[in-house]
Amino acid sequence: MNILNLFKPKKSYMCPLLNNHLHFTSRDTLEPCCSANIGPALVSELSKKNSVKEFIKAKKHYIEIFKSGKIPAECKNCVHITEYKKQSDFRINKITLNHYTQCNCACIYCTQGNRNFEKIKEDENKPVLYDVLKFINELYDNNLIDREKLYIDFQGGNISCLKNHQEIIDTFLNRGAGTIYIPTNNIIYMPVIEKLLAEKKGELCTALDSGCSETYLKIKQVDKFDKSVENLKKYIEKAGADSIIIKYIIVNGYNDNMDEIVKFMNLMIEIGIKIIVLDIDYRDIIDKSFTIPKHYYEIASYVKKTCFEHNMDFGMPPYTKSVMEKGYSEK
Ligand SMILES: C[S@@+](CC[C@H](N)C(=O)[O-])C[C@H]1O[C@@H](n2cnc3c(N)ncnc32)[C@H](O)[C@@H]1O
Ligand code: SF4
Ligand code: SF4
Repeated sequence: MNILNLFKPKKSYMCPLLNNHLHFTSRDTLEPCCSANIGPALVSELSKKNSVKEFIKAKKHYIEIFKSGKIPAECKNCVHITEYKKQSDFRINKITLNHYTQCNCACIYCTQGNRNFEKIKEDENKPVLYDVLKFINELYDNNLIDREKLYIDFQGGNISCLKNHQEIIDTFLNRGAGTIYIPTNNIIYMPVIEKLLAEKKGELCTALDSGCSETYLKIKQVDKFDKSVENLKKYIEKAGADSIIIKYIIVNGYNDNMDEIVKFMNLMIEIGIKIIVLDIDYRDIIDKSFTIPKHYYEIASYVKKTCFEHNMDFGMPPYTKSVMEKGYSEK
């Protein structure tokens, strides 16, 4: 060991997500993040707990580990780790709701497990794992939430299948929140989404992934392309298109061809969509070495060019963008 190292100031770390985010998982845990890493469980068996005390204690514990220059095993190699910077605001400014998995379709790529028709049926009457409102109300009561900035992300299964979604949204609206982000398959029209869009409190994101009902059926396993498009048109008519994001996840062997993407983009232009996000099926690029096929670049440049010509925003999630730039993903 170099003796001089003993006199070097020790490096300290931190994680901005650990400091200010909260993720209600479907593993019955409360975790700081929803990153590609699993991250530490701040509270396990959440359904059996009835106070936020354990969460506060665990959060402090992990913040201290980072501060002391160590990296918790669950966070190893995580891209979110940064050098320590003094921070005084540890209130929650992002909540991800992932405590339900119920859904009314069965996307073949779904990260919520291998979905099929039996699973859709089985899910119908399954209760949610735990009551998030109990915790959320306690967080508000203890001034642990940044009421102005708070960004809520409804991940989970599909919001239309979450029985008390209205009560959850009302709690956030009444107690203070910034933006409510709702990814949904859009099969069911929801007046609450229309209201959030109209009041500029919400964002809607739908992965349509196709330009026609045949491809949609192959990917989502339900014949609801027309319904989803009809609902999009209705939201736009009632509340405008400014906060509606449409995603196209490139799924190998299903929709990775120019014919499909042209049909999709023509439809987006026709109905007045303003924001397009292109993604790649995570099953291909996470935890796996995958060389991006040449035609993915052709699809991406076509979408980018078409968006530019039609004054639409074009985006790609950061991880996908970096994999596209490198040309491959690593194990
Ligand atoms: C599990 S879904 C839940 C929300 C909602 N049911 C939906 O699909 O929009 C959360 C997000 O993960 C995305 N997603 C799920 N599996 C994916 C995959 N294999 N690759 C890329 N995105 C995926 C969905 O498109 C959606 O935006
Ligand atoms: S370092 Fe990564 S895995 Fe750990 S809490 Fe932060 S985001 Fe989550
Ligand atoms: S709509 Fe969302 S939750 Fe449902 S199967 Fe598709 S990705 Fe999964």
